Amino acid sequence: MTSQHGNAKYLKDYQPPHFFIDTLTLDVDLQPTQTTVYARSEVRSNGANPANDLVLDGIDLTLKEVKVDGHTFTNYDINDEQLLLRDVPQHFVLEITTACSPQTNSSLEGLYLSDGAYCTQCEAEGFRKITYFLDRPDVMAEYEVTIKADKAQFPYLLSNGNKIASGDLADGRHFATWHDPFKKPSYLFALVAGDFDVLRDSYTTVSGREVALELYVDKGNLSKAPHAMASLKRAMQWDEQRFNLEYDLDVYMIVAVDFFNMGAMENKGLNVFNSKCVLANEETSTDRDFHLIESIVGHEYFHNWTGNRVTCRDWFQLSLKEGLTVFRDQEFSSDLGSRALNRIDAVKVMRTHQFAEDAGPMAHPIRPEKVLEMNNFYTVTVYDKGAEVIRMLHTLLGEQGFQKGMQCYIERHDGQAVTCDDFISAMSDANGFDASQFKRWYSQSGTPQVHVQEQFDAQQQQYVLTLSQHHSPTADQPSKDNLLIPVAIELLDSQGKALSLNAHGVADNVLQLHQSEQQFVFDNITERPVAVLFEDFSAPVKVQFEQSLNDQLHIVRHASSDFSRWDAQQSALSGCILDELGRGEKAQLDEAVLATLSDLLNAALAGQEHDLALVAELLQLPSFDTLSAHFEQVPVDAITAVTEAFAQQIAEHLQVLLSEVVTQLSDDKQQSQQSVAKRALLATCMGYLARVDTQLEFIETQAHQGSMTLSLAAIKALILAQHPRSSAMLDEFAARWQHDTLVMDKWFNLQALRKGSDSFANLTRLYQHPHFSWRNPNRVRALIGAFAMSNPTQFHAKDGQGYALLGDALVKLNDINPQNASRLITPLLAWRRFDSTRQQLMKEQLERLKVLPKLSKDLFEKVDKALSE
Ligand code: TRP
Ligand code: ZN
Repeated sequence: MTSQHGNAKYLKDYQPPHFFIDTLTLDVDLQPTQTTVYARSEVRSNGANPANDLVLDGIDLTLKEVKVDGHTFTNYDINDEQLLLRDVPQHFVLEITTACSPQTNSSLEGLYLSDGAYCTQCEAEGFRKITYFLDRPDVMAEYEVTIKADKAQFPYLLSNGNKIASGDLADGRHFATWHDPFKKPSYLFALVAGDFDVLRDSYTTVSGREVALELYVDKGNLSKAPHAMASLKRAMQWDEQRFNLEYDLDVYMIVAVDFFNMGAMENKGLNVFNSKCVLANEETSTDRDFHLIESIVGHEYFHNWTGNRVTCRDWFQLSLKEGLTVFRDQEFSSDLGSRALNRIDAVKVMRTHQFAEDAGPMAHPIRPEKVLEMNNFYTVTVYDKGAEVIRMLHTLLGEQGFQKGMQCYIERHDGQAVTCDDFISAMSDANGFDASQFKRWYSQSGTPQVHVQEQFDAQQQQYVLTLSQHHSPTADQPSKDNLLIPVAIELLDSQGKALSLNAHGVADNVLQLHQSEQQFVFDNITERPVAVLFEDFSAPVKVQFEQSLNDQLHIVRHASSDFSRWDAQQSALSGCILDELGRGEKAQLDEAVLATLSDLLNAALAGQEHDLALVAELLQLPSFDTLSAHFEQVPVDAITAVTEAFAQQIAEHLQVLLSEVVTQLSDDKQQSQQSVAKRALLATCMGYLARVDTQLEFIETQAHQGSMTLSLAAIKALILAQHPRSSAMLDEFAARWQHDTLVMDKWFNLQALRKGSDSFANLTRLYQHPHFSWRNPNRVRALIGAFAMSNPTQFHAKDGQGYALLGDALVKLNDINPQNASRLITPLLAWRRFDSTRQQLMKEQLERLKVLPKLSKDLFEKVDKALSE
């Protein structure tokens, strides 16, 4: 590749480092535009792979001084990204003094200021913005960190590990020194200095050690801290019980900051969280917020073993920690809450976002092979498909076998920086499992397709399933191999009872598809069964199976897996939408589907459905993105026309029942699983009722004084129904919540969903809103991200206004925060999948970015890929 951005890195070129750094002493003197960092390290040659020159990474640093073994050192070269020290000894003490400017650092990477507090973000390659270093995860050091700052302004000085000293300095300043006994890569370093309210608690580990738990929040936010604290304690206990993993330091700290590029960061002993992913109380937060916070607090905690104690050799191995840790946080949520609902959430992410990534220019395997900007590979593929790959292993090995493999992995590699291959080896060695074919899931990109045919022979009393796997080329990989695909199944008889597969000659309910085509034969079958395939989404594939609507609805009624009931319902609804696509607004939803929906509501009203949250899911049409995945060229207008028509028909047909639900179920505003489920159903019902102007009083009451969950759901229902009352409701909501930034993000979110031709002007007007800020990623995502990702009709407006709006924003964000810009560009990358008019308009925006004089590496990598060939 030729570009202004140097060359991409390849997995195949991995070389161990020439030098190791075993200890690092940092002395950080915090000043807004002139922070001085003194770094003393013990450097040792890698005897197996020696060199004379030491090349250190460093960006946006001012070099003040270099010393080698106590003597000033001048034999170096320096450029924008590296410091090259010539002819250094094989073992020496290196001292480097540099300066950086947190106040002007708007990238939110390295050391920066978030609303007056100093904080750091080093993953993946941000440590090099703090000091010159071997900023790669296979260089692990023991850290001792001294922080100095003004005492009144920054009473709390925090870093990884344990505080070993603190005291006052001259001029009203003070210091604290921290020591982290565990060796770690630089990406896990963290430093925080600020003034906070602190929620303190403690946890006694399974072996009886007491751990201090501390949650640091902005002054005045203490009421929003208890949920995260309770989540943390649940996570600590769950990891002991399910994975036999115990916490290892005496203190665990979490800091909430407002300016943050991602959700949260697992720095050793000192997690930094986006305030949106940690702060919640019953007044200001939705049920989703509570759930999300519990899962992210868990996720970061679980990294302590899968990520920190055992870390990644290089960034191509990111899924080693992220896929595994997402799997662990999903299991945590499922063990504590509803397994089916958690599975539905995870599968929606796969089908809407991950399948789209595979189908676009950024397609990559869960272990990428080529990277220009690492920040671009924190993707749904690495994280969520990575977790699906771990889940397949779990399905194949069983819980016991999986845990045996985990134990082997941790025992072998504690304290090391390792690879995905090391993980697979541990799993296969512990279980005698031949992983040679399974491993291809790590190197092969794309969404496999599985075709299914069924045959029933009444005479032979045989039922035969023929499965075949198909792999299309992706942008990154022309040819593919067959994979080992676990296919969990259930066969239902006409009464809806599950057949015992054992009695029909099949030993396991998980079929293993490893060849191009295989037949699975079931004997002694007297009537044609209904097959539930890929139960619980047992593999991340697309399934092609001409199953009749009747069979699908039979599964909705009878499958043992609640997930599979939902899955069949989605297939049935998608099938109906695709069948009627040509009819646009005149599309008619099948009577049988409408009948199933009323049965479902009747059952819910009669207390015969045990999980109302599942009922809520069963009532919902597939999303625009899910439907898009069925097409190579997405018929935007037809999809929206048919889904709108169906939504209207459901609303009209079920009006009475939906109305009965909202009068019968009352929200007690509690946090129990049942109350949450009730609200989920109420929210779905309001979505339909707003379309037929029924129960308007109920909806408005919820908007005004309902729980945050229902207040937002009510307003959203009015907006999506383009109801004339929606504007007034939005205004009223803003007046009520303008003092709370996180709640105002929810309001921006709703604004972004508005339809109609004035929606663009409305959005750009909101750029001037006192709460909006281009520098804060939460604000940008709440408004512009939500518009581009969740408002397909407006984003894809035929005149290109939606694309231009995003293009304008990206031009601006490219300078301020390239990481944030790069996350936002996603919907434009799919330009080839739209009609020629839209293609042209989307491409124009990409071309406009391509020629920006200071295009960031982050955007360059994506734009370049999207436009090439
Ligand atoms: N490791 C973090 C997680 O999975 C992700 C993360 C946080 C991150 N901040 C980041 C990744 C900044 C890249 C850049 O929880
Ligand atoms: Zn993670």
